[in-house]
Amino acid sequence: MAKKKEMEGEVYYPSEQVVAQARVKDWDALAEKADKDLEGFWADEASELEWYKKWDKVLDDSKAPFFQWYTGAKVNIVHNCIDRHLKTNRKNKLALIWESEDGNEHRTFSYFAMNREVSRMANIIKAMGVRKGDRVTIYMGRIPEIVFAMLACAKIGAVHSVVFGGFSADALQGRIEDSQSKLVITQDGNFLNGKIVELKRTVDDALKKCPTVENVLVVRRTGQDIPMDPLRDHWYHELSKLPVANGKCPTEEMDAEDPLYILYTSGSTGKPKAILHVHGGYMVGTYSTLKYVFDLQDEDRFWCAADPGWVTGHSYIVYGPMLNGATSFMFEGGPAYPYPNRWWQCVERYGINILYTAPTAIRGLMRFGEAWPNKHDLSSLRLLGSVGEPINPEAWKWYHRVIGKEQCPIMDTWWQTETGMFMITPTPSVPLKPGSGTRPFFGQQAEIVDEAGNPVKDGDEGYLTLKRPWPAMLRTIYGDPDRYVKQYWSKFPGRYLAGDSARRDSDGYYWIIGRVDDVINVSGHRLGTAEIESALVSHPAVAEAAAIGLPHEVKGTGIHVFCLLRAGFAPSDALSEELRQHVSKVISPIARPEDVKFLDKLPKTRSGKIMRRVLKARAQGLPEGDVSTLEE
Ligand code: WTA
Repeated sequence: MAKKKEMEGEVYYPSEQVVAQARVKDWDALAEKADKDLEGFWADEASELEWYKKWDKVLDDSKAPFFQWYTGAKVNIVHNCIDRHLKTNRKNKLALIWESEDGNEHRTFSYFAMNREVSRMANIIKAMGVRKGDRVTIYMGRIPEIVFAMLACAKIGAVHSVVFGGFSADALQGRIEDSQSKLVITQDGNFLNGKIVELKRTVDDALKKCPTVENVLVVRRTGQDIPMDPLRDHWYHELSKLPVANGKCPTEEMDAEDPLYILYTSGSTGKPKAILHVHGGYMVGTYSTLKYVFDLQDEDRFWCAADPGWVTGHSYIVYGPMLNGATSFMFEGGPAYPYPNRWWQCVERYGINILYTAPTAIRGLMRFGEAWPNKHDLSSLRLLGSVGEPINPEAWKWYHRVIGKEQCPIMDTWWQTETGMFMITPTPSVPLKPGSGTRPFFGQQAEIVDEAGNPVKDGDEGYLTLKRPWPAMLRTIYGDPDRYVKQYWSKFPGRYLAGDSARRDSDGYYWIIGRVDDVINVSGHRLGTAEIESALVSHPAVAEAAAIGLPHEVKGTGIHVFCLLRAGFAPSDALSEELRQHVSKVISPIARPEDVKFLDKLPKTRSGKIMRRVLKARAQGLPEGDVSTLEE
């Protein structure tokens, strides 16, 4: 055990061995350096990557909150993910290892091969008329081609918009329409939990109302029969044979502030927000955070078990690992199919060194017992990670003891689609407390404030705010800059409002409590109450609806809804089931409510806003709090 200073609560100190290996041995010293010279810190990090032209200014805050980073610089994130490695002995190193759901297929790609595959896809989409700045929607499962598709867009300067493959046709359509995509890249179907997810057919449904889409590129995965529109739809494997689809494609020179991608996420109001990230700052932020937090070593095999459809997959399956020249592992299936040892089999088979996943997966696997992981040799693991929601101490301890054999520190990383990179996180040499993401990353300062914006005292709960800009920060909400300012920078001017509540303990460690806005975090997936409610109201039986989140053993939070029926409809179990199905169909199976209750009246403020807080308190048998604004 390393020398320890007295700390509050239950503390896990890093072993001498972990400290000896850690890249950051003196956390305080580096934090202090970055704090004193924010631009200097981020200039040093950026200098480890290649730029076609260096920046004039590291941080330009003259148009805050529209911050700009590395202004004047020319770069392309793909140059640093692929091109630069081809000049070194990483050329023949594996960039990606992939295993199919059934375990019978294994595909590997060196950086050299990655360049060929990405260039091929880039040439094909270029031939389809996609140009710099055009948006491309990607709707796929976890197969290598989703990585090629994302990087191919970035390589030619197109802006990708990945939509999670579990979203419904309606949700997909809304996102295609909002982004005005020209092209959709998808696959025939996707294998998941022993079933086929119909991706292409869902795209067909979505496109009935999306006039901007000119072409659909379809990757063959399941081999099932699907309808193909001869003018619009093209098989990827057929186009790949054409001379134009060769493995050489120049990487487009971009301004550091040029858009890289948009990614939709749920917010507190109405429709999902298109979060915009750019080539330069996002590249530096994801590179640097992954390097320090997961202490990437050249020989490491890194497994981020998220889906590329979420920001975690963007930053830490695709971009972060490749920027670091690491080997990333991707698994097509879920953790427990066909048996709950599927992940542990993969760890053993591929010698995974770092596993990064979500509390909901850990809680789910915990329920199957220790015998499953214990059947496998997990000794290759050196570090573990957690993301998506607060990890409850029992799950943390199980993960630490059963998976990490008490040898692997757990990096609990707090961040968001908007932040692009880890914001509150330990590094391996930092003492850990189960359930806390410890402290802000280098260069960042967090502050917990009350309604009036005053810092609360340690131990008290309040709004989590971030005080300093960071390179991977969202630049705006695509197409809605006013909403960007309003949502993140207005409640407490000059500070970023995260939308989470948190508290800080006397050691300066942060504890995230959960969302304070109308966002429900189900198994680490963000869903807006407004989205769920409008899905319900789109059903003929429902006049009004309210959705709340209540604690759930595996999902963290489960969705519970209350409906007021239209005249002529009566409450029944059958209707309740029908409404659950309806939400699942309109949004996604992840949004399916745990239960539907029928009320004669919803609690509302005098101004007509539904008081979800009151419904939540009632459902949990808790005091209703201040109800002075409740209508009679
Ligand atoms: C929650 C996922 C506690 C939080 C990267 C945040 C967390 C939202 C953690 C963002 C964590 C994420 N501990 N809560 N380690 N990580 N969250 O945009 O509520 O899908 O605001 O980004 O997830 O979710 P998003």
